[in-house]
Order: sequence, then C-alpha cells, then structure tokens
Amino acid sequence: MKNNNTQLRPIWLDTSSDEVRVIDQRALPHQQIHMPLHSAADVIYAIKEMVVRGAPLIGVTGAYGVFAALKNAGTRPDEQGLRIAADRIIRARPTAVNLAWAVNRTLKAVLAEPDKSRWTDIARRTAGEIAAEEVENSKNIGRFGLSLIAGMAEKKSTGLVNILTHCNAGALACIEYGTATAPVYAAHAAGIAVHVWVDETRPLNQGARLTAWELGQQGVPHTVITDNAGGHLMQHGMVDMVIVGTDRSTYTGDVANKIGTYLKALAAKDNHIPFYVALPSSTFDWTLTDGVAQIPIEERDPDEVRYIPGAPRSREYLLMPETSPAANYAFDVTPARLVTGFITERGICRADAADVRRMFPEKF
Ligand code: MRU
Repeated sequence: MKNNNTQLRPIWLDTSSDEVRVIDQRALPHQQIHMPLHSAADVIYAIKEMVVRGAPLIGVTGAYGVFAALKNAGTRPDEQGLRIAADRIIRARPTAVNLAWAVNRTLKAVLAEPDKSRWTDIARRTAGEIAAEEVENSKNIGRFGLSLIAGMAEKKSTGLVNILTHCNAGALACIEYGTATAPVYAAHAAGIAVHVWVDETRPLNQGARLTAWELGQQGVPHTVITDNAGGHLMQHGMVDMVIVGTDRSTYTGDVANKIGTYLKALAAKDNHIPFYVALPSSTFDWTLTDGVAQIPIEERDPDEVRYIPGAPRSREYLLMPETSPAANYAFDVTPARLVTGFITERGICRADAADVRRMFPEKF
C-alpha cells in the first residue's frame, strides 16, 4: 500500500529493536500512529481493541504474539506457559479463523524443535513467512479477480465497472493489496475504469475510514455510501458486481463477514448482480459445514453502537437516548446459495464443497 509514495504495511518487524510494530487503525484516517507490541498481552489488546483488524492481519499479528511471548520468556521458555499464551491470543477474537490458524501454525513449528534456545527464532521466522505468504496470496487473488472485472468492462458500453464493497478487505486488513481490493487495484493498474461504492460499515466505519483512505491513496475513484444505500443503487443499475472479503468461510461455501454483508448478498441476488467473495486459503474453515449454525459470531461492546468517535479521538458523541440499550453483532453469515464465486489465490471457484475441494485437494 502506498502512502504519500512510501510503501506502507499495517504490521512490520522493526529490525533494529526486534520489535513488532503496527499501525493503530483506530486513529485512521486522521492520524497515523505506530504502536509497538512488546508482549503477548499487547498483542491480545491490539486484536481485541481493533488496533489491528481484518482476518489475515490478525492472523499475522497473532503469530507475532507467539514470538513476543517467547522473546519475553528469555532463555528458559516453558511449553505450558507458551500454550497458555497462544490460547489467550486465539481467544482475543472468535470469528476470523486466520487467528487460530496462524497461532497454531507458529506454535507447531516452535514445538517441533527440541532445542528451546531456537524457539524465539523459529517463531519470528514463521510469523514472517505467514506474512509473506499472505502478500503472495493477495497478489494472486488480484490477478484472478482482474479477469472478472475485465470481463465485466467488456460487456459495458461505457467500459466503467462499478464495484460495491463492504467493510475493509484491503491492504490494511491483510498485509498488502488486500483481498476484495486486490482485483480492484489490479484492474486500475491495467487501465480499466473502475469505481468503488464503499459501504460506510457501521458501527466502526471501516469502509468510510479505512477503505476510502486506502482507495484514495491508490488513486482509485470511489464514493462512500451509507450502509443501507446498496440495494437502491443495485435496483438502478449502478452496481455491476459486489466483491467482499471474509473472516471465515466454510469449505461448503458459507461466508462470515462484517455485519451487513448478508443483506448486500440478498439485494445482489434479487437484482441479478454477481456477488464474489475474495479470500486466501487461510480464511477457509476446513471443518465446518454449516456457517449459519456453526461459525461463532463476535458480539462486541454495545457502546461502539451507542457512541460515535470523532476526530480528535478523545471526543465521542452519544447517538441515542442515554438509557437505550444497544446490541453489537460484529459479523453475519451469507449462505453459499447467495455467493456467485470465491476468488482465491489458486483461482476462481464456485462456493461449494466440490469446487473448493478441486481447488485445494490437499486440505481434505
Ligand atoms: O471487524 P473487522 O474490521 O476485523 O472485520 C473485518 C472484515 O469483516 C473484513 O471484511 C474481513 O476480515 C476480510 S479482510 C481481508
């Protein structure tokens, strides 16, 4: 991701201090604050409070949490303490499967090494490998998704493709390129005229704050809309395709993503608009078969709904009567029947078990 022409990632290892650093996404787009994560506790805080967010990024952050725990344990790390720290990191947020996947992968790599003095190095290396793989995955998702956008551009007399997206499945949620945004960036770079409708994504406004900021940095034309505007735009031929990311998708095709995604999928179906989900293999849950019944949906602090933060961040505004209760379901599940296809790092497939299996045979 470019920011004022410098390459920017939402997480990196500061090589001089051997410390993990992240961008505090709560402060974007108004301020760019970098935060060091010194310990597993810092990592848990950053994930819970959404300093970092987005499925691939919380996976990578979790993996670096294992590294931070080991670094702090010095020359005498103990396996039980490490397992407890890993478990706490995994429980920081329940919906995105990338978190457990990346933490467990790092833990497994560490525990396979009999020489404990090498554990910290192995954790550091594994977290770095996961980050590098996610960059590669996003790049390939962009490559495959580009073909869909190019195909749509050919069908349009104006050549302009209008894409609607929800939440932030961009570089900030991944490491580079993003998932849902990767095809958009690839199309823009290929000279295809694209315009993105960005759902604001209440209550934390990841669309308005983060996706709009990212697209602006890349020079991609976009318009922020209220969360409820999508159906109207679809009815009036103003949306050609929907592309969203996901926090956990079953191999049978059900898609958990930011609350409100399901309603967009319903509206897209009613208007015969393709609804694509872009995801790396780290976001598939290979064990669950019924997303609606089985994917855990995070419920967050109702105050995120009741209050809206302003800039500067110290100000918050109450939106409703002081005494009214609020509920804050962070994700919903779009059933496979509403999903036109998955855009993965290996190509495009239908959202069903047979086609996902064809794409990732080694997972079965
Ligand atoms: O609550 P968030 O901001 O972590 O939710 C993020 C999303 O819903 C994204 O769409 C999803 O993680 C895909 S990121 C490539």
